[in-house]
Amino acid sequence: MERFNGRLLSRFCIAFIIFARFSSSYKVEKYSLLMPNVHPSTPELYLCTPIKVDPTKSFYIVGFEPNATMHTAHHMLLYGCTKPGSQDAVWNCGEMVTTVSGMKASSPCAEGSQVIYAWARDAPKLDLPEGVGFQVGGDSPIQYLVLQVHYGNIDKFKDGSRDNSGIFLHYTERRLDKLAGVLLLGTGGSIPPRRTEHMETSCYIQERKTIHPFAYRTHTHNLGKVVSGYKVSRSDDGTNVWTLLGKRDPLTPQMFYPVMNNVTIGYGDMLAARCTMVSNRDRWTNVGPTNKDEMCNFYLMYWVENDTPLERKYCFTSGPPSFFWSINNDLNNIPDKDASTL
Ligand SMILES: *[C@@H]1O[C@H](CO)[C@@H](O)[C@H](O)[C@H]1NC(C)=O
Ligand SMILES: *[C@@H]1O[C@H](CO)[C@@H](O)[C@H](O)[C@H]1NC(C)=O
Repeated sequence: MERFNGRLLSRFCIAFIIFARFSSSYKVEKYSLLMPNVHPSTPELYLCTPIKVDPTKSFYIVGFEPNATMHTAHHMLLYGCTKPGSQDAVWNCGEMVTTVSGMKASSPCAEGSQVIYAWARDAPKLDLPEGVGFQVGGDSPIQYLVLQVHYGNIDKFKDGSRDNSGIFLHYTERRLDKLAGVLLLGTGGSIPPRRTEHMETSCYIQERKTIHPFAYRTHTHNLGKVVSGYKVSRSDDGTNVWTLLGKRDPLTPQMFYPVMNNVTIGYGDMLAARCTMVSNRDRWTNVGPTNKDEMCNFYLMYWVENDTPLERKYCFTSGPPSFFWSINNDLNNIPDKDASTL
């Protein structure tokens, strides 16, 4: 077995439980998933720290309480992984990987990667709807939780001070019938110079499950103007019905927001997302990890009842210039204007 230098979330971690409350009929406890006294020494640094979840029992995460300020942390993402990107207690990871002596650069997860929470700009705590939880540990694909913190400006660490930004996970050991999942819609592709471009994705739900979306999050880099996401169903005469799930300016705080329409999505429905990008650059902009590149992401958080979340975690297309909604023969009645205006 590989060496694991991180911490463990298990019944043996009683010492980490610093808070308990009774909500309806189950006990909710709190686990501190914080950076272990790190000293960010280069700007734009991404650090990851893992916890291994006890595989012999299930835990259900019902809320995420951030412990960070925007003066220190630019953003935080929480990944669920089957295998972590490293066996170390902390490593250099993520979008803008820079080489820092003594720290390996690898992604948050080595296997089974999914983002389950995101925080930026002093966003408040996120409570999942009553009775809904992310199952971790046990027989779930989430055997590790990896916290990623992006340290932007590091001036406040020049005096040698250290950081414990992170998330207090609110969880229960009571089995919950409604399990949460996240589906990430996104594209690859390139944005031409001095153009407005649509980066679009769509995919069918091919699993016989009923999902109840309750929150969404948008993400682009600097060129994003509007990101919108839809449920697309088909009426008897073949006309598509587009129901807006969420739409916003991606440069507003990139946290999870409540969906704009409460609908269920099932087998044979489609999901679709568009990012409207405006480039005043003289060069092409490609999808990629650095802030010179772009991204088009729409996260959809949902629950399923008496079922496991979708096996599918991603809905991606190649994006412009090779993919547009208009070349997908299964899509019609496209809300061209609505999808790009706020
Ligand atoms: C995070 O929590 C710890 C203790 O749990 C505290 O000492 C620290 O100041 C907190 N950090 C931030 C940025 O809130
Ligand atoms: C969706 O349902 C939730 C929970 O029942 C409710 O709080 C919210 O207002 C609803 N949203 C819309 C847009 O109807």
